[in-house]
Amino acid sequence: MKLNSLRLSTFRSYERVTLEPPEGVTVIVGENGAGKTNLLEAVHLCCLGRSHRTTDDSEMIAHHADTAASYLSVSRRDGTHEVGVRLYREQKRKKLLYVNGKTASRMGDLIGHATCVIFSPEDLSVVKGGPAVRRRYLDMLLSQLQRPYFYALQAYHSTLRQRNALLRAIAFGGDAAQLDVWDEQLAQAAAPIVRLRSVMIGKLDQLAEAHYAYIGGREEERFHAAYQTGIDVHDALSSMRALLAASREEDMRRQTTTAGPHRDDLLLRLSDRSLEAYGSQGQARTAALALKLASFDVLSESQGEPPLLLLDDVLSELDPQRRNRLIERVQTAQALLTCTDPSDFTGAEPAKVLHVRAGGVIES
Ligand SMILES: Nc1ncnc2c1ncn2[C@@H]1O[C@H](COP(=O)(O)OP(=O)(O)O)[C@@H](O)[C@H]1O
Ligand SMILES: [Mg+2]
Repeated sequence: MKLNSLRLSTFRSYERVTLEPPEGVTVIVGENGAGKTNLLEAVHLCCLGRSHRTTDDSEMIAHHADTAASYLSVSRRDGTHEVGVRLYREQKRKKLLYVNGKTASRMGDLIGHATCVIFSPEDLSVVKGGPAVRRRYLDMLLSQLQRPYFYALQAYHSTLRQRNALLRAIAFGGDAAQLDVWDEQLAQAAAPIVRLRSVMIGKLDQLAEAHYAYIGGREEERFHAAYQTGIDVHDALSSMRALLAASREEDMRRQTTTAGPHRDDLLLRLSDRSLEAYGSQGQARTAALALKLASFDVLSESQGEPPLLLLDDVLSELDPQRRNRLIERVQTAQALLTCTDPSDFTGAEPAKVLHVRAGGVIES
């Protein structure tokens, strides 16, 4: 996938900017706070409809402005895809999505046209943070890969909210029989989520193990990823139905849904030890990189071409050997790579170097 252009208006620190990066690696250099990550965030917004670092869209609107927009044009094997997102500060106004010159009404219409994998220092939280971070990592990856996953996830979360609202209402005399309807809907949405997560984690396990070993693992360290779920993946629908039935009393008591894919986890281990609990900083960092590289492989394979690569400040934290191995692994893709020190990027020839200065100035 080739990024033809990225166009921003009143997006974070940028007033108006257009980037037309060449194929290969574009290095974005600048001091802390200069606005490097803002550029990658804008790409991410166009790919996934949301920021990778905040859930509050209004943060991305330049302080002085009421609206912000990011547009992206990519060339793929089947032609050019143009996507864009416009955000509004006004709470009631929904964000506008654009796909190939038209407005799109559903987030699912936007996702999948331009795809990216972002590497950032916060990836460490995929390993060291809680299950919610790992579910989000899986959800982002699967949503980019398969629209049905994204729709099932949306349906699941909206049904979950309604079921939880009903559970609270039941505590005040509401009709418990209504739960049957929500349970069935929830089970229907849960089944594809569980099946697709299970297949994906199987792939990630294999791919990330190899990356871990290559990037920095010692012989005796073997990386493993496994799916932790209360649902039988081979018979997800009836298993989820049974689970909801079995936990109904507890759910009514606690006024919330206690079982289902919203409680899943992606267990990461190094030679049978939990990385979350026991991994050192270095091991966790390598594991996070290995997982992201595995995402890159999965997207490349399923799309028949690599996704855009966004590498945010990741080189400085790696020793030279890991750094070189990372660069080598991702060289087939077009990449935007940020760093504070251009010497981080020794050994590989960038196609272009951009200098970013506070105030939204970009010079090559
Ligand atoms: N909504 C916004 N409006 C204007 N400036 C912003 C906004 N959000 C962040 N900034 C500015 O962007 C800069 C941080 O950009 P960032 O891309 O994170 O920097 P870095 O180069 O360190 O990655 C800060 O100077 C911050 O003040
Ligand atoms: Mg940054």
